[in-house]
Amino acid sequence: MSTIDEIKQRLDIVQVVSEYVALKKTGRNYKALCPFHSEKEPSFYVFPDRHSWHCFGACGTGGDIFAFVMRKEGLDFGQALRFLADKAGIALPSRPQLQDKAKDEQKDRLFQLNEAAAAYYHHMLLNASAGETARSYLAKRGLSTQTIIDFQLGFSLDAWDNALQYLTGKGYKKEELLAAGLLVERGEGGVYDRFRNRLMFPIRDIQGRVVGLGARILDESLPKYINSPQTPTFDKGSILYGIDKAKAVIKQNDQVIIVEGYMDVLTSHQYGWKNTVASMGTSLTERQLSILKRLTKNIVLALDADTAGKQATLRSEQVFEQAMDKKEIPVFAQLAGQSNFKQIPIIDANIRVAVFSAGKDPDEIIRSNATEWDRLIKDAKSFIDFAIDTETSRVELDNPKNKSLVVENLLPFFSRIIDPIQLTHYRRKLARLLKIDDKDIAYALDKYRTQQRKRETLKGKESPDATAKIASFLAGKFALEEYCMALLLKYPELRSRATELVPEYFERTENRELLLKLKENGGCDTIKENLDSSLHNYLESLLAKKFPPSIDESDNLKQQTMDDCILRLQEKWLRNLETTKAELLTMEAESGGPTAELTKLQEQGIEESKHLRNIFIKRGHNPTASAKEE
Ligand code: UTP
Ligand code: MN
Repeated sequence: MSTIDEIKQRLDIVQVVSEYVALKKTGRNYKALCPFHSEKEPSFYVFPDRHSWHCFGACGTGGDIFAFVMRKEGLDFGQALRFLADKAGIALPSRPQLQDKAKDEQKDRLFQLNEAAAAYYHHMLLNASAGETARSYLAKRGLSTQTIIDFQLGFSLDAWDNALQYLTGKGYKKEELLAAGLLVERGEGGVYDRFRNRLMFPIRDIQGRVVGLGARILDESLPKYINSPQTPTFDKGSILYGIDKAKAVIKQNDQVIIVEGYMDVLTSHQYGWKNTVASMGTSLTERQLSILKRLTKNIVLALDADTAGKQATLRSEQVFEQAMDKKEIPVFAQLAGQSNFKQIPIIDANIRVAVFSAGKDPDEIIRSNATEWDRLIKDAKSFIDFAIDTETSRVELDNPKNKSLVVENLLPFFSRIIDPIQLTHYRRKLARLLKIDDKDIAYALDKYRTQQRKRETLKGKESPDATAKIASFLAGKFALEEYCMALLLKYPELRSRATELVPEYFERTENRELLLKLKENGGCDTIKENLDSSLHNYLESLLAKKFPPSIDESDNLKQQTMDDCILRLQEKWLRNLETTKAELLTMEAESGGPTAELTKLQEQGIEESKHLRNIFIKRGHNPTASAKEE
């Protein structure tokens, strides 16, 4: 038995909870005023049989004894484990695996080294006489001393081994400098400084650790920038320059502005747009988006007209597929306004695009006319408007062939608009622009959707073998949960889908904690790093799970399997909730409970039935038929 299970077995959840709230017995269960939100009628229930609790009121949360003390005491999982083990009189094995520890230590050391390098280059910029050209360059670019200090900008001397000498003098080994990408290897074993005679930009992660450096040349020669190579700390696809400084403001303003370059971030911050980060010149990755989605759903992409044109043609790009939220579950969105479903993830990132004239940089616009920048950001278009405008402005619209082409190009976008009112709005807009009948667009869209559906069913049929294996895999008690977790962990491309899940869907404490960590982090390395060591074995066991080769090979099948898992988990959770509520209702009615409470529970029951029906529809079976099945 795992320590977690042992703790659950030894401790009485009623006992533990009653140390914090005054529980009142109702039938087999207990109720109280919810300790997590303020209310007048009790909607917080503890179910001793199931070792769980749930609030049917405004906060709508629930979980096991771990979730309870984590919330109530403000502990992370590891702390809760120790706290409860202590209560249960269980001695925790002490273990952190040596290998991981070594790896962690190596990474810590790299962070330290990068930090030391950043400080060294910064010192050189501020003090070295050779730094004068760099200082005047920055002044010419309009950057204030405050910005230079805030972002710890630096300068690398025009020499082959200055950083090498300084940092080895500080006790770092040549191998470590190589591993951090600060040195380059010359044939016959020699090494030299990677960054020479350049302006230095320390790049920090969301926690403020220096993960790598960017370096700009001081004139017009090429390459303009060189950056740290891929290292254990520097992974370009998950970096957002400026995120450490911007994160609080992003949260506060509930909006992020994404620009392309280092210089754009610096100027934005200096002029007061402190919620700005840079994607560092590449198109946004899912990992970058998932970092941002934890801070805000409101994303403004600031693109120059050239890049914007290119982005619009990146229809097939996964990122935008994600961003457009093909996985949005309509019923959840409808219920979003209702407080008791607040915690259900609705991945409706609101992506808007601010387009400015080609060849200009946010940096230049802001410095020459800050009001214009303000207007550009405020007037940013929704992604669909942006797609329509770009598509229609690219071609001669009097040509009927072009009209068809534009419609065809936009169908994938249209097919993802779930809200009928919005759909009509955009259909009419496009019809107006193309001077065609909007019914023709509706017709084309219908046809497109039918084709899509056919394609999807065909794909599903492609591998009956895989589906059968999946079914058998799902047979065990916790198998669905574990399977879902293993999918998320094994396939980085599925990682972002963690946002569609909430801990409440999982019964197993281990899975709940893994989900939380997945949402907080991203990469698997970082998960392990941040995961309590008592869960490392479990993590390994999930990672060791083998999936059928058909899943390994097909991205579509991966996504489909994930779809299926998520829907099944939601269904299971809602069913449980429904049953529980039905039981409670009967019990309360028998004991003559206050009517206000009864009505509240009943109303929520109705919402959940609607919810369930929609899940059934999504899973493609008839609600009444399947109700009989089960
Ligand atoms: P830009 O060319 O727009 O750079 O590239 P910038 O930051 O605006 O710099 P200035 O204004 O010309 O001084 C955008 C980003 O693309 C990455 C950098 O992160 C840069 O900030 N980039 C660009 C590179 O990594 N390497 C390059 O050679 C060029
Ligand atoms: Mn620029």
